[in-house]
Amino acid sequence: MMMMLPSVALALLSLLQVGAEVPVQQGFDSEKFAGIWYVAAIASNCSVFLKMKDGMKASIITISFTPEGDLDMKLILPMEDKCQKYELLFQRTGHAGHYVGTSEEVRDLRVMETDYSSYAVVHELNHSKEEPHRALQLLTREQDASPQFLQKFEELMLSVGLTKEMEAILPKTGECWEDTWGGTR
Ligand SMILES: *[C@@H]1O[C@H](CO)[C@@H](O)[C@H](O)[C@H]1NC(C)=O
Ligand SMILES: *[C@@H]1O[C@H](CO)[C@@H](O)[C@H](O)[C@H]1NC(C)=O
Repeated sequence: MMMMLPSVALALLSLLQVGAEVPVQQGFDSEKFAGIWYVAAIASNCSVFLKMKDGMKASIITISFTPEGDLDMKLILPMEDKCQKYELLFQRTGHAGHYVGTSEEVRDLRVMETDYSSYAVVHELNHSKEEPHRALQLLTREQDASPQFLQKFEELMLSVGLTKEMEAILPKTGECWEDTWGGTR
């Protein structure tokens, strides 16, 4: 039984992947999506991520929008001995909830599903020539992700062709929570 599962799952996944256009939350409302999110889980087929995923901790994301409607993402990652900060800007597209990277790095970001007040599932595509990959993130407003949201996340994960082996459920830590951008929480 256990031996059969992977091949069945793989066959199913390759079917699902054919022509799979990644959906975006209908009627996406950027104003409601803004604010602080915790990254509760990530699934990706990026080789670098797969190597380090077991040591990863929950990071904190602050989303805001420019007057033009572009998405500004401020990230704080708890590392070994410090809180690493990044800022990424994504340009809006003609579709609400769909953004593209601004630099030479080709990146595509879609908010697949969100209820704004408790969870969101965000899909990212990196079309780099060296190693194209995709990633799915489960964002939650609370530091604890309920099993219900994790289940939604895993369903979407399978629907975009990512597998359980590529998933990291990020352990809750108290690290870096005080160290927010601008101190607005
Ligand atoms: C895209 O992937 C490439 C190769 O793995 C990496 O060098 C680059 O930093 C990635 N870009 C982004 C925006 O993550
Ligand atoms: C990751 O998945 C994407 C989309 O399915 C695929 O194009 C890419 O080649 C995969 N990358 C790796 C490193 O497996």
